[in-house]
Amino acid sequence: MLVLGIESSCDETGAAIVRDGRVIVANALASQAEVHARYGGVVPEVAARQQLTAIIPVLETALERAQIGWDDIDAIAATYGPGLAGPLLVGVTAAKAIAYGRDLPFMGVNHLEAHIYANWLHAERERDDPRFPLLSLLVSGAHSELILIRDHGDYEILGQTRDDAAGEAFDKVARVLGLSYPGGPSLQRAAAEWPTNQPLPLKLPRAWLRGTNDFSFSGIKTAVAQMVDKQRAAGETVNVPLIAAAFQEAVTDVLATKTLAAAKALGAAEVALAGGVAANLALRERLAHDLGRAGIPFRFPPIALCTDNAAMIAGAAYFHLQRGERADMLLDVRPGLALPARTGR
Ligand code: KG4
Ligand code: ZN
Repeated sequence: MLVLGIESSCDETGAAIVRDGRVIVANALASQAEVHARYGGVVPEVAARQQLTAIIPVLETALERAQIGWDDIDAIAATYGPGLAGPLLVGVTAAKAIAYGRDLPFMGVNHLEAHIYANWLHAERERDDPRFPLLSLLVSGAHSELILIRDHGDYEILGQTRDDAAGEAFDKVARVLGLSYPGGPSLQRAAAEWPTNQPLPLKLPRAWLRGTNDFSFSGIKTAVAQMVDKQRAAGETVNVPLIAAAFQEAVTDVLATKTLAAAKALGAAEVALAGGVAANLALRERLAHDLGRAGIPFRFPPIALCTDNAAMIAGAAYFHLQRGERADMLLDVRPGLALPARTGR
């Protein structure tokens, strides 16, 4: 089954064609990051307008790269939430119009679920599917969650952030340090300037929230902001690589330690990292090291599939379509959509 997926929840416009939820046939993406960099963050109205200009060219690029025509597509899918209302509307409306015009099945996709399904994707080289029960650490710009997945569509949120998401903390600390938008990758680059063979003479506070699977990242963000303010007021030079490295280490330490503990406690068959922050090399390495030592298989998507893309949308849609699910043509966007999960524990 060839699914055409559309992603437009924030500042990336994506169209991708994926076979059977796994094989990427084409994956086109237009990023607006440069436009928003001027403002230091995403401006919703600007994002919606950019989506509108990008959507048709991106769709054409995906079909061209796949060297297929509309007749070869079996279903259309689009992100319907969570995200920004205006940008979401562009993708959902385009997908519905195509589905209506070509009489194709239409599926609305939950963006959070799609991030997890990036772990099923591959290009040419065959890759085994993740095994259940799967523990996923989903860390993006707005979410930080530990999710136990017993089967397709069966989600249990074990824990989540009580304040800032991990990506949000990266973005805010990057801004405090005067690094360019988007903050996550800039902060990673700044941290890489700290020599790896040198121990870190700075330890930032970690919120462990022991006995829970929850996270909190606002304390460390405030600690960095106060430290930097004080240094600037005293006329001292701010050691950006050191602070970036210490921040990255603290966040990585908390995420990896809590993920390992949950994986052990629940007997997870595998751990899968997902979301934009999954692109962070220090986090990938730390989790690979800790889980490897515990003998727990660990996987993460290639960097381009960690941040927002349409291949993950087409991939996630396949598993719903395969179960006979179809979205109503009246489906509306849901900016505050959550993962369809039972909560508790
Ligand atoms: O999943 P995503 O692309 O968009 C959302 O759905 O939110 O995640 C974006 C977030 C941003 O906060 C960005 O700074 C962060 O992921 N991010 C990173 C890295 N690349 C992206 N954070 C740390 N290290 C990175 N290399
Ligand atoms: Zn995302």
